[in-house]
Amino acid sequence: MSGRQSAHRGFRRLQRLTGILLLLSSGVGTYLLATDASLWLLAFSHAVGLMIVVAIDLVLGLYSLASSKSAYLPSIAAAFLGFVLQLGDVFTAPQYNMTIPYFAHYLFGLWAFDLLLGLQFVVVIVGVAARPHAQYLARRKTKGGRDIDYSRRGLLKAMGGFAGLIGVGILLGSLKLTGPAQPGAQGSQTSATTATGAGTGSVANVSNLQIGIPVPFEYPAGYPSSLVKNQDGSLTAVSTLCTHVCCQLSYDAASKVYYCPCHGSVFDLTGKVVRGPASTDLPTVLLRVDGSGNVFPIGVTNPGPCQV
Ligand code: FES
Repeated sequence: MSGRQSAHRGFRRLQRLTGILLLLSSGVGTYLLATDASLWLLAFSHAVGLMIVVAIDLVLGLYSLASSKSAYLPSIAAAFLGFVLQLGDVFTAPQYNMTIPYFAHYLFGLWAFDLLLGLQFVVVIVGVAARPHAQYLARRKTKGGRDIDYSRRGLLKAMGGFAGLIGVGILLGSLKLTGPAQPGAQGSQTSATTATGAGTGSVANVSNLQIGIPVPFEYPAGYPSSLVKNQDGSLTAVSTLCTHVCCQLSYDAASKVYYCPCHGSVFDLTGKVVRGPASTDLPTVLLRVDGSGNVFPIGVTNPGPCQV
């Protein structure tokens, strides 16, 4: 077999492998988008970014499987970028009120996230392994080698193009977040919202509370919390950011529990975990009631992973 034929064969084999890996990566990304509601509810811009990565992987996977030489560099560029962006996700933790180690523990605990990361890494390795073949074919100006770009410049150009595309998607996705203030957003002050009928600075007045009906408030400012009057007249207030990955809880009036729309955790009105995946009870907001019955939040015990 001539050197040209062997280079051809080797290149085609590795390119087909790249195609399969990219299609798998696209499938795993789709699985994540379809099964992890926190992507949509908590990090919409990340969901948009992942959608673009999935689409790019799909197109390049098909082109690679069809042995299109022009897909060679873009495949490596897309996989490298996808790998870096996924790792970079970990550092966006503060944006979602989590510490980086906590968020990293959550992300790396997801098999689909790890698999996606692994597939992209392997695509880069396969691309590097195919480079000598690409180089040989391109230098020989063979029929099949003419359209193979293996240059560093071409790689950076492809990477820049994909980065721009993903960046625009993430930007458009993040515009969705500019509505109501995000919990823990910059500039938040440590203060409480004042409910109607309550004294200045207080979150409610005891006389306006109904037994078992939660009253939402923010404490500290920007962090959703909830106050409930118990059967015996005592008060309970908890933070309503889920202790799993900090999605905002909703109150389910029928079951009288707080429900997390992201992964389905359930907490009772005192903040105790009723159903996981969350394993930590909600932080309790300490209260002071003045002589007129006005309720003031004065601190938080057992702060959870959401940095309350
Ligand atoms: S954020 Fe995952 S269950 Fe609440």
